[in-house]
Amino acid sequence: MGKRENGNNSGIEDTSRENEREADVGESDVTRRGFLEGTGAALVVAGVPKLGIAEVAPATVLSQAEAVPQTTIRVTVNGSRERVEVEDRWTLTELLRGNFGLTGSKIGCNRGECGACTVLLDGEPVYSCSTLAVWADGREIVTVEGLERDGDVSPLQQAFMDHNAPQCGFCTPGQLMTATALLHRNSRPTAEEVREAMVGNLCRCSNYNAIVEAVLAAAGTSGSGGAA
Ligand code: FES
Ligand code: FES
Repeated sequence: MGKRENGNNSGIEDTSRENEREADVGESDVTRRGFLEGTGAALVVAGVPKLGIAEVAPATVLSQAEAVPQTTIRVTVNGSRERVEVEDRWTLTELLRGNFGLTGSKIGCNRGECGACTVLLDGEPVYSCSTLAVWADGREIVTVEGLERDGDVSPLQQAFMDHNAPQCGFCTPGQLMTATALLHRNSRPTAEEVREAMVGNLCRCSNYNAIVEAVLAAAGTSGSGGAA
């Protein structure tokens, strides 16, 4: 509030104050510019590792790398028997995508929430992002790449295409693996059973009805309860 409401010479005061303010702004501009330039230089300097740290870093990194435990495991991946050395901290996703180049399994959340990384481990769907590679030792893994036979997609994959189940498609590999496991243990599921089995596979496109329709179509049970 203030001076403009109170005095009848306020115009004069305001003018002189504004002049002072402009002068101040000019000074502070210079000061600010100087400060920023100084800060920038300081940040650049701060970004350079101190000599002492740089000197010890290689040895530290080397000893840390040596300290990572590794294990040789044997796995069957999409019918192919493999012997591979893995770091004990690797997830199954890292092994499949990084080592075997099977990038069909997607990483959505990387913390066991979305199901995009689902693969079959001894026939059961698991989140590969939350399964250590060493736990797969001696076991059979099937990824989405393993669903086709002699270059042909599986009936379930065909049904997904026929019913437009993939929208962006990011969740589709995981959906296919969970549905494959379901159809192996229950070849004639109802819509409710499909929904229940696939509750752990999220679809950010919310294409759930089409996904359920596709699974029912692949099972030949499209009429049992409806998918919508
Ligand atoms: S990426 Fe594995 S559950 Fe989401
Ligand atoms: S189709 Fe896009 S997330 Fe499911």
